[in-house]
Amino acid sequence: MIYNSIIETIGNTPIVKLNNVVKGMRGTILVKVEYFNPGNSTKDRMAIKMVEDAEKAGVLKPGGTIIEGTSGNTGMGLALAAVAKGYKCIFTMADKQSQEKINILKAVGAEVIVCPTNVAPDDPRSYYSVARKLNQEIPNSIYPNQYDNPSNARAHYETTGPEIWKQTEGRITHYVATVGTGGSMCGTATYLKEQNKSIVAVGIDTYGSVFKKYKETGIFDEREIYPYLTEGFGEDILPKNVDFDVIDNFIKVTDKDGAIMARRLSREEGLFVGWSSGSAVHGALEYAREHLKENDTMVILLPDHGTRYLAKVYNDQWMKDHGFVETRAFATARDIIESKKGKESLYTVLKNEKVSEVIRLMNREGIDQILVVDQGQFVGSVSSASLLEKIIVEPQLQNKQVGEIMDKPMLFVAPDSTLDVLSSHLNKDNKAVLVRDAIEQVHIITQHDVLKAMTS
Ligand SMILES: Cc1ncc(COP(=O)(O)O)c(C=O)c1O
Repeated sequence: MIYNSIIETIGNTPIVKLNNVVKGMRGTILVKVEYFNPGNSTKDRMAIKMVEDAEKAGVLKPGGTIIEGTSGNTGMGLALAAVAKGYKCIFTMADKQSQEKINILKAVGAEVIVCPTNVAPDDPRSYYSVARKLNQEIPNSIYPNQYDNPSNARAHYETTGPEIWKQTEGRITHYVATVGTGGSMCGTATYLKEQNKSIVAVGIDTYGSVFKKYKETGIFDEREIYPYLTEGFGEDILPKNVDFDVIDNFIKVTDKDGAIMARRLSREEGLFVGWSSGSAVHGALEYAREHLKENDTMVILLPDHGTRYLAKVYNDQWMKDHGFVETRAFATARDIIESKKGKESLYTVLKNEKVSEVIRLMNREGIDQILVVDQGQFVGSVSSASLLEKIIVEPQLQNKQVGEIMDKPMLFVAPDSTLDVLSSHLNKDNKAVLVRDAIEQVHIITQHDVLKAMTS
């Protein structure tokens, strides 16, 4: 198949199953990978739709100029449309946006005007106001205004929604997307809910944005507004494209959690995605942990590609400078078991085994702990430290049965016990704990395993 121009390749992006960041969770969790669009983001869909609707309405004429306030991705989509159709582009952007985004827009022939981030939207210096003013001054120009332009949500209603419905063969039960202008959430969710009204739509918001509070209380609370770093979603205005009636819940995600999840998606799933994709997945998993059932199918929209964040989220020094350290403090017993797969060291001996035999086994296998079993039950444990203590005092203990000198059985902990919980159980008397997994297999976690997980 040969396309007439690059804009014909927009849409029909793949849906991919998450395999690793969702370990231990119920249901099927899928992502719609929007960086497969030619401008590497979901915004291509609405950009071309806004341009074509403006042409149809007769407001955009040959040789015209497209002016937009954009965080970069809409600009890219509009610029591609402009190249294909012969228009000029001017974009206004907030100065918190990454330099890469600005350079990329310039690369595809656009003019970019950088405006201050921390001013009110109606301040004449804001990127909204500057875009509007340019539109008034430049003849034959359009200001599509992605926030309020119905073509935005309509593009997702006509493409993203039907694609997801078809790709999941109608099995989708939950749709999750970040909410910026609201187009990709609301257009898609409106379509999906028309197919099956019980589909749940979860919007991802950020701290510093007004959406969640507005949905829950109907109050536009200016105290909710403060600067944040995540790019592309969360707002200090209520765009017309956000239809609060189709969004069932909002979840707020911190800059840090989004950044860390974006890196995990790259490393653990091979999905080299942007920051807001990390936020979408982090929030979606928070929701899924509580609400998703075994037969549910969740689709999360991943808006853009990781290359736009190389100087930020994918720069180790930048992450450190912002305190975005990927601490393993919340790793769990399950993670430790997973990391030891194939290197397990759970040894058992019978209660009537001779102590000297047990010592020989420990020496041969290089292990410090052994469980003592009797009639299929864990009845006690021995550790090299406690054996040594006892045998030094009374060497003939070697000839006794292990059941006579064993310590108490090891404690069982839940698979989702975090490292701090695990370490609180481990001390001089309890050198290891046990975990029973979903298939009733027992695993041992030693002090050394916890230490290793804390420092890796
Ligand atoms: C990186 C990124 N994430 C999320 C969004 C939010 O999408 P929407 O505007 O459809 O709500 C955008 C929109 O610009 C974006 O650029």
